[in-house]
Amino acid sequence: MDYIIFGIIAYLLGSIPFALVIGKIGYKIDIREHGSGNLGATNAFRVLGFKAGSIVILGDILKGTTAAVLPQLFHADAYPLIIGIIAVLGHTYPIFAKFKGGKAVATSGGMILGINPILFVIMIATFFLSLYLSKYVSLSSMITGVIAFFASLFFQNTGLTVVILILTIFVTYRHWSNIKRIVKGTEPKITWM
Ligand code: G3P
Repeated sequence: MDYIIFGIIAYLLGSIPFALVIGKIGYKIDIREHGSGNLGATNAFRVLGFKAGSIVILGDILKGTTAAVLPQLFHADAYPLIIGIIAVLGHTYPIFAKFKGGKAVATSGGMILGINPILFVIMIATFFLSLYLSKYVSLSSMITGVIAFFASLFFQNTGLTVVILILTIFVTYRHWSNIKRIVKGTEPKITWM
């Protein structure tokens, strides 16, 4: 029963398309028609600017964190990692945006924050180091997944490692168009770092 209750809450939370909502309410822009067209924080930063991008990334992270923390708070009989994955699926296939959502990065990070904050800090450090070196957000997101997988081994939590492996494969799959652009040399680089 707990899986159903917290699973539905997680899916609905994950489905909140912050990039779409902030774009439409604050800027009268449908972000799906601009930039990469992705309903994610990177595209919100790109199309709407720093303030909107910051709100979107915070919202997308907190969706995952909340979903993973709720079952722990209520001592529910539901594995937080599974509930977290459901939030990530909500973010990626949102019921509130025709099932076309983001690329799973921020919400996956958020769920890790709600389960293992130390690993989250390692992921943030990895992401910004990769971004500094490569200037590609997409590549840095994938590298962060790979490093998170290896870092998770130190915590000796098989469930956590398996879930991170699944999420890293999923994040890579969701970035397929970015990978093709990186190979072609047409993927946009950040200019502020
Ligand atoms: O998290 C998404 C990011 O890694 C890439 O987004 O908009 O550049 O395709 P975008």
